[in-house]
Amino acid sequence: MSQAQLDNPGTYLPNDTMQMFRAAWELPAQCAAAWRIGRDAPVPPAKPYRNIVVTGLGGSAIGGDLLRVFTAGRLEIPVIVNRDYRLPRFVDDATLVFAVSYSGNTEETLSAYDDARGRGAAVVALTTGGRLGEQARRDMVPLITIPAGIAPRAATGYLFLPTLAVLERLGFLDGMDAEVDGLVRHLEILRGRYGPDAPAERNPAKQLAQNLYERLPVIWGVTGTTEVAAQRWKGQINENAKAPAYWSAFPELNHNEIVGFEQPAGVLRGVWLVVLRDPEDHPRVNLRVEITRSFVGTAAGMSEFIASGPTRLARLYSLIYLGDYTSLYLAVLYGTDPGPVRVIDRLKAELGAR
Ligand code: PA5
Repeated sequence: MSQAQLDNPGTYLPNDTMQMFRAAWELPAQCAAAWRIGRDAPVPPAKPYRNIVVTGLGGSAIGGDLLRVFTAGRLEIPVIVNRDYRLPRFVDDATLVFAVSYSGNTEETLSAYDDARGRGAAVVALTTGGRLGEQARRDMVPLITIPAGIAPRAATGYLFLPTLAVLERLGFLDGMDAEVDGLVRHLEILRGRYGPDAPAERNPAKQLAQNLYERLPVIWGVTGTTEVAAQRWKGQINENAKAPAYWSAFPELNHNEIVGFEQPAGVLRGVWLVVLRDPEDHPRVNLRVEITRSFVGTAAGMSEFIASGPTRLARLYSLIYLGDYTSLYLAVLYGTDPGPVRVIDRLKAELGAR
C-alpha cells in the first residue's frame, strides 16, 4: 500500500475485516451511549470507600488509566489500575473494585474478580458477557453490560465512561454531564480532521503515519496528563499496525531514558519521537521538554502534539483519538488488517488448553 493511497479509502476500507475504521468514526456516539449505560447501571452501596481499583488487561485496562489520570486531581482517595491475577494487599471491604473485561473471559481478570470477592470488596463488573458476566449474575454483583461486536481496544468509551458515571452516582464526582458532552462534541470535530476522507495534506494522523512508517515510534507523554495517551498510542501501534512502539513519560524519562540516545547509531536513525503535551502540564515540565528536545538530535525525527478540547476529558481523549487514527493508517501503510490480533488469540487459546 503506497502512501498516496491513504487518500483513497476505497482501496483499504474493504480490507478492514473488523471495521476498526468504522469503530473509530463512531467513537463519539459510543461515548454518548456509554455514558447513558453508566447512568442507568446498577451501583454498589454508597459508603466511605478508602480506595478504588480497576482490574483488567489490555484494551480493558486502559479505561482504568483514563479514570486514574482524570480523577487524580478530583478524588480524595486513590485509583489504582491492576493488571494481574491478584489484587494488592490493601484491598479489603473498604475498596471499590471495577472488574473490566470486554470479552468477560480474560483469565487474569476472572482471577482478580474472585480475589476481590474473597476480600469482601464491593465489586462492579463491566463486560459484554462471558464468564465474568455469568459470575456477576450468579453472585448478584452490580453488572454493567456493554454492547459486544467490536474489538476491546475500539471500545474505550464503553470500557471507561460507565466507571466515571458510577463514581458520580456514588457522590465522588460532579459536573460529569458537561464533561461528557464536551467530549462527544470535540470528538465529532476531530474525526473530521483525522478520518479517512480528510486528505493527507491537512490530516495530521495520515502525515504522522507516513513519518512512523518503517521507523520505531517512541511516544513521550507527561505524568498526570498525557501519560495515558502515550501508553495507548504504544498499544494501538502494536495491535493495529502489528509494529513495535515504546512509551514513557516526563519527568521520569529525564532521569534515565534521555541518556540512551548516544548509540547504537543504526537503531537511533530509525527512532521517531512523538511528544504528547497538555496545556495544564507543569511549567517546569514544559521547560524540561524544551531542553530535552535539544539532546535527542540523533533521532530520525520528532513530532509534537498538544491536547485540545473544551474540557479535561475532551483533552485526554483528543490525543488518544489522534493515536488511534495514526495507528490505523500505519496498518494501512504496512498492508496489515488492523483488527485481528492473532498472536493474542493464539496465546489465550494455548493458555486455555492447559
Ligand atoms: O485489544 C485486545 O484485544 C486485548 O488487549 C484485550 O483487551 C486483552 O487481551 C483483554 O481482553 P478483554 O478486553 O476481553 O478482557
